[in-house]
Amino acid sequence: AATLRLAAATRGKFIGFAAATNLLTNDASYRSIAQTEFNQVTAENAMKWDATEPNDNQYSFAGADQVVAFAQANSQVVHGHTLVWHSQTPGWVQGLSATAMRTAMQDHIATVVGRYASNPAVQSWDVVNEIFNEDGTRRASFWQNTLGDSYVADAFRYARAADPDARLCINDYNVEGIGAKSNAMYNLVQSLRAQNVPVDCVGFQGHLGTQYGFPSQVQQNMQRFADLGVQVRVTELDVRSVLPMDATKTQTQITYYTNVVNACIAVTACAGITIWGIDDGHSWVPSTFSGQGAALLWDASYNRKSVYDAVNAALDAG
Ligand code: G3I
Repeated sequence: AATLRLAAATRGKFIGFAAATNLLTNDASYRSIAQTEFNQVTAENAMKWDATEPNDNQYSFAGADQVVAFAQANSQVVHGHTLVWHSQTPGWVQGLSATAMRTAMQDHIATVVGRYASNPAVQSWDVVNEIFNEDGTRRASFWQNTLGDSYVADAFRYARAADPDARLCINDYNVEGIGAKSNAMYNLVQSLRAQNVPVDCVGFQGHLGTQYGFPSQVQQNMQRFADLGVQVRVTELDVRSVLPMDATKTQTQITYYTNVVNACIAVTACAGITIWGIDDGHSWVPSTFSGQGAALLWDASYNRKSVYDAVNAALDAG
C-alpha cells in the first residue's frame, strides 16, 4: 500500500512507532513520516517514571501530553509505556521502605493512568516491564527486593482502578519465541488471571538481531498466550546488525521483520506491531551496542530501506 498504516488497516492491525518528543518538535522529516506511515504511537521515553514524576509527587507531563496530542492530531492510538520498571525510575523511589514504595507506586499509577483515562486515544499501558531473568526467575530489581512477587499483581490492580477501560499489558524482551523466559511469562499470566488480576495483554518487545538467529516458534508462542484469553502485541520491534551491513545481513533482517509481521497477521489476538523508532540515525541501538545499528526501516537520511518495502508488502499480503 502507499503507506504502512494503510496496509495495516486492511488487516485490522495497528502499525506504530516509538516517538522521541524532541524529534516530533524539531525534525520536519521525522514528523512527516510519523504522521503519514503510522496509526499508533508509544512514547520512547516521555511516559517513563523519571520523565513523569522526577520528584516525589511532582509530576511533569509536558512530553507525555505532547505525544498524546500528536497522536490525536493524526488519528493514532497511544500505548502508555511504562508504569513499573527497574530502569529510568528516580533514586527517590528506589530507596523507599516497602510501605512507602507501595504507596508511591499506587500514587504514580493512579496519577499517570488517571490523567489519560478519559482520553480515547490512550488505550493501553505497559503496567510492568522486564520483570524476568533469562532463566525465568524474577529479576532482582529494587521492586522485587523491597516488595516481593506481589508488586506485579498490585500494579495491575492499581492500574485497573485508575482506568477500568484501559488494556493492561505485561511487557518483556526475549519472550518472542518459546523458551524458559516466555514459559515463565506464560505461567505468570495464567496464574494472575486465575486470581482475577486484571492482565489483559502481553507485549513481546521484539529487539532482534541478525547475528542471533530468529526466535523459535514465534507464532505458536503468540497463540498460546492468546489461548489464555489475552491480547498480544509486538511492542518494540527492531532488527539490529553488526555493522557494516551487507547483502546477507540485509536479507536476514528482511526475513526477520517479515516473519514477525506474518506471525501477528496469523494470530487473530495480535493487535499490531510497534517499531522502536523510525530512522537509523535516531535508534537506541548504536549507543547501547557499540558497532551495531541499521535496525529500522528508514536510513539516517530518511530514505526508505528495502526492509520498509518488505514490511509494507507483508502487511499488504496478509
Ligand atoms: O534525557 C537525558 C538528557 O537530559 C541527557 O542530556 C542525555 C545524555 O545522555 O541523556 C538523556 O537521557 C537518555 C534518554 O534515553 C532520553 O534520550 C538516556 O541517557 C538514555 O539511556 C535513554 O535511553 C533509552 C533507554 O530505553 C533507557 O533505558 C532509549 O532512548 C529507549 O529507546 C530505551 O527503550 C527501552 C524500552 O523503554 C524498554 N525496552 C528496551 C528498550 C531499549 O533499551
